[in-house]
Amino acid sequence: MQRRILFRLLLVPFGIALLLAGLFFDIWSGDAQAQQTSTPDRLAEPTLPAMPNQADRGSQIYWLSCLPCHGDRGQGLTDEFREVYPPEDRNCWNSGCHGKRPYDDGFTLPTAIPAVVGAAALQKFSDAAALQAYVKSAMPYWKPGSLSDEEAWATTAFILRQSELWGATSELNSVNAARVKLSAEKAAQPNQPVNAEGGKIALIILVVILFLILFLKMRSKKVVK
Ligand code: HEC
Repeated sequence: MQRRILFRLLLVPFGIALLLAGLFFDIWSGDAQAQQTSTPDRLAEPTLPAMPNQADRGSQIYWLSCLPCHGDRGQGLTDEFREVYPPEDRNCWNSGCHGKRPYDDGFTLPTAIPAVVGAAALQKFSDAAALQAYVKSAMPYWKPGSLSDEEAWATTAFILRQSELWGATSELNSVNAARVKLSAEKAAQPNQPVNAEGGKIALIILVVILFLILFLKMRSKKVVK
């Protein structure tokens, strides 16, 4: 009988350790995943979720028509982003297609291509409607006006979601876009992303407290016996 109680008592800390290890591992693997996704292929086509929303659809249009110039993170054509390409493609201006004398289907690329993600990058647009109008009429730079209205909305929704200026729970359209302000005062207080890590830590603390209560109860039972 005594042995059984001892065994049970040993089980409790063992259980706690196992659970904590599991939870911590989950946090770490979460971090590792976040780091991994940024390293492998930064030029890979984005995969869509089973039920893609407007901004998800925009992510593919962005990848196809905007990423080569504006970067995988909307950072613009930075030196760092050009390093992602194979060496022969890094100097976009010498490589025949975008230099001073482009091929037939090439074009001269401006030497500076601005960032399009981040509140600061979009400040020259008063609101999402103005941004969509610009994308529709002026982008992609080499073939302006080639996007459909809906494609321009989806790409705009994607850029805004990446900038944490649009929650993307509903569709961005000509009715609601004017309410999504992009000018300076809005940029001063970007939407805060939900802190998932905080929730996990709270869960760990809760589990520990629950186990402590269980442990103490078992001990008091033992004393009675
Ligand atoms: C061939 C390169 C190229 C491609 C492709 C391209 N852009 Fe641009 N984009 C530019 C350049 C260059 C400018 C700056 C134009 C200017 O200042 O007149 C610009 C400016 C912008 C701006 C304004 C940013 C600012 O602060 O001035 C936005 C927004 C934008 N592009 C979005 C897009 C979107 C969305 C796509 C894809 C549908 C796209 N671009 C595709 C080259 C490109």
